[in-house]
Amino acid sequence: MRSLKLLLIGTGRMAHTHAQRFQSMPGVSVVAAVDVCRERVQQFCATHDIAHAYTDLAAALAAHTLDAACVVTPDSAHAPSSIRCLQEGLAVLCEKPLSDTLESSQAMVAEAEIAGVLNMVNFTYRISGALHQAREWIDQGRLGTLRHFEASYRQSWLCSPYWGEWTTEDAWLWRLSTAHGSTGVLGDIGIHILDFLIAGAGQGITGLHCRLQTFDKAPGNRIGEYDLDANDSCIINAQLENGALGVVHMSRYQTGYMNDLCLSLHGTRGALRVSTGQKGDRLSACLGEDIHTQTWREISCSAQPDTFERFISGLRGNGCGSPDFAHAGDLQLYLSRCSESHELGRWLDCSSAAREF
Ligand SMILES: NC(=O)c1ccc[n+]([C@@H]2O[C@H](COP(=O)([O-])OP(=O)(O)OC[C@H]3O[C@@H](n4cnc5c(N)ncnc54)[C@H](O)[C@@H]3O)[C@@H](O)[C@H]2O)c1
Repeated sequence: MRSLKLLLIGTGRMAHTHAQRFQSMPGVSVVAAVDVCRERVQQFCATHDIAHAYTDLAAALAAHTLDAACVVTPDSAHAPSSIRCLQEGLAVLCEKPLSDTLESSQAMVAEAEIAGVLNMVNFTYRISGALHQAREWIDQGRLGTLRHFEASYRQSWLCSPYWGEWTTEDAWLWRLSTAHGSTGVLGDIGIHILDFLIAGAGQGITGLHCRLQTFDKAPGNRIGEYDLDANDSCIINAQLENGALGVVHMSRYQTGYMNDLCLSLHGTRGALRVSTGQKGDRLSACLGEDIHTQTWREISCSAQPDTFERFISGLRGNGCGSPDFAHAGDLQLYLSRCSESHELGRWLDCSSAAREF
């Protein structure tokens, strides 16, 4: 088995998951890491047994022969880092969302196409066996015609320090500030729940009406260098390609939940409820004769390979790497339409993003 050499760009919280997963795979090694913060990258490399620490991407690229790079920086740095690596001919696994603007995400999709190398985005919750099973039954027609959906992604870290203290830690403060490249809860977890919805339903969104809310949370809504102006909560009314209507909601103020996704799908012949996240992965079904008594049954499902396994599998030429930049670019169009709809206060068409999901 050929040994694969990886570079990690960004060594904050999420990068630990990348390092742990890749360093534990046979024939895969993270040979170097880059972060703008010298102390952090050195500490990170020591923790994960990575030989080379850099504060400059160009220096890391010049010093090593690599197979792939993982971009795990804040959202606004995804585009420059990914594009640079693609231009070097490296396969790229980028964190979600693809970028912080529609324009830069389109540049990333275009560059990935030119490079012709493996490119993937980490939609973590594709690991859900419940989601996978739901999609299989949708494709088999077991729900009949889809009429309605409800999708939610609930967190409450603005009310509880379960992931650390958001008022003092940069890793949380940048997520609350547009000047630091955040598109708020919409870009941070909205991208996950939109991906979850269209992966489950197998259809794109053709129209939506979005309302964003930024709640007051500090004196003058400012802490140090951070203006806390990014949205915290979002509600989207949406329509899918076949006309199915539904609601998508996401928040960082949903007390009682740490990190939970839920998707309900209602067709003319049955309904499914997928829940995943901190409380485990579950599928409930109300199908066939059960629709007349509204009886729901728990279905057991097996977890799917995670993004890290699929990326390495793609690098070894076993299957295509998905979801790719093009898919994440389509989702970025939805994010952009959501912001636009909020500004204009009206329903917007987004059928140009609808394609095979
Ligand atoms: N897929 C998931 O489920 C999931 C979960 C959490 C975070 N994420 C994503 O991972 C990314 C990182 O999030 P995080 O929580 O680790 O943030 P973080 O703030 O903890 O870490 C980001 C790191 O990137 C470094 N950095 C900033 N600009 C850089 C640049 N130009 N080059 C190199 N390093 C740079 C920072 O110094 C910091 O160490 C975000 O895009 C986030 O949306 C994804």
